[in-house]
Formats: sequence, C-alpha cells, structure tokens
Amino acid sequence: FDLPILAPSILAADFSRLGEELQTCADADIRWFHCDIMDGHFVPNISYGPGIVAAVRESQPEAFLDVHLMIEDPDRYLEDFADAGADLISVHYETCPHLHRTIDAIRSLGCMTGVVINPATSAELLRPILAYVDLVLIMSVNPGFGGQAFIESSYRKIAELGAMRSEENAEFLIEVDGGVGLKNAGKLVQAGVDILVAGSSIFKADDIPGRIAELRNSAIK
Ligand code: DX5
Ligand code: ZN
Repeated sequence: FDLPILAPSILAADFSRLGEELQTCADADIRWFHCDIMDGHFVPNISYGPGIVAAVRESQPEAFLDVHLMIEDPDRYLEDFADAGADLISVHYETCPHLHRTIDAIRSLGCMTGVVINPATSAELLRPILAYVDLVLIMSVNPGFGGQAFIESSYRKIAELGAMRSEENAEFLIEVDGGVGLKNAGKLVQAGVDILVAGSSIFKADDIPGRIAELRNSAIK
C-alpha cells in the first residue's frame, strides 16, 4: 500500500445500498474499509457485527478490511471477525487487561494486529506493546458515534507516538479515527499519520468520488 491510506468508515454509509456505496469507493481506488463494531457497553451505541463484515468481504473480495472492535471482552469474538474476513483486528487498550495475550490471539487467527486508545488514554501506556502490533489507532473523538468534532490534542499524541516508534525501533502504522475531513487531513499526515479513517466526510458528501479525491489531494503532499 502507498501511504497515506484513506480508509472509509462504513458506519456512515447508507446500509440499504451498502454494496453500491462500497463499489463507488472501490471505483475511486479505495482499497481499505474501516469497520466499526460497537456493543452498547464499552461505547453507548450499537452498530453491527460479523454478519455485516462478512457481507463487506463478499461484496469486495479484494479489499483490506480493518476491523475496529469497540466491545467489552473482545477475546470472545476475535474468531468470529477473523472468519468474517477481517484482515486486521484492532482492540482497545481500555478493554484488554492481558493485552499481549489478546494481540497474540489475533495474530494466531491469521490477522494483522492493532491497538486503539481513547482520547483520555496516554500514548505512553502503549510502550510495552509497540513491538508486537502492526498498527496503533489514535481515537480523535470519544468512540461511539460518527460525525463528532475532532479533538485537537490528538496532534500531540500522534507526534508522541511517532517519537516512540523511533525510540523503540518499532514499525507499526499510525491510524487516526474520528472527525477526520478536509480541514485536518493534511495536518494529520504532516503530524505522522499513515492511515486516515473518514466516515461522514466521505459518505455524507454529495459527490463521494469527488470528496475522496479532495481528501487525497489535501493529505498527499
Ligand atoms: C467512532 C468510530 C469512527 C467513526 C468515524 O466511534 O470509531 O470510525 O465512524 O466517523 P467520522 O469520520 O464521521 O467521525
Ligand atoms: Zn473506528
């Protein structure tokens, strides 16, 4: 993949025409899709489960499926999401008391591994896991809903994480999720982001391919 990657979050898509919306993105050269799984416990909202991930996989067999689990006790569901066709599974630091064990479990299911932190969780807490993950996801909103305002202190966290990556000689990708749009995409990539997740900015646009092109132009220097 060429970096930065633009990963539409299908949470903001029109579920009654999901296949068409995915194809519109694929026709605009989107290769990653971000799937937001919410359980109504870890986060206040319920989104969708492995059935929808499997439907995305069926409709876009070549796509890379980036599955973001906002659920309590994620270990119980890792296999279901791997079977549904996830290429990468991210779990929240806040939900995993035995984080290395959970990351190992994801890897042994044949998926790439990611860890996520909420806005109020310090990046420093991730230092012990950095050598073991393929991706770190920085939440730039409190997870639970699409369409929220970007939290400005996320830039500092991204920079801190970039510094930690060099200090630890680690190779994980840095992803940001929440409130990403035309106003901040360029600045986020400058701050060190490899993967931009965007939900409303893409799917609520009148012209989806046009918006994808605008986001790419503002993100790629
Ligand atoms: C927030 C989700 C995000 C969300 C992003 O809980 O993890 O992926 O769908 O949506 P926007 O881009 O609308 O903030
Ligand atoms: Zn997400």
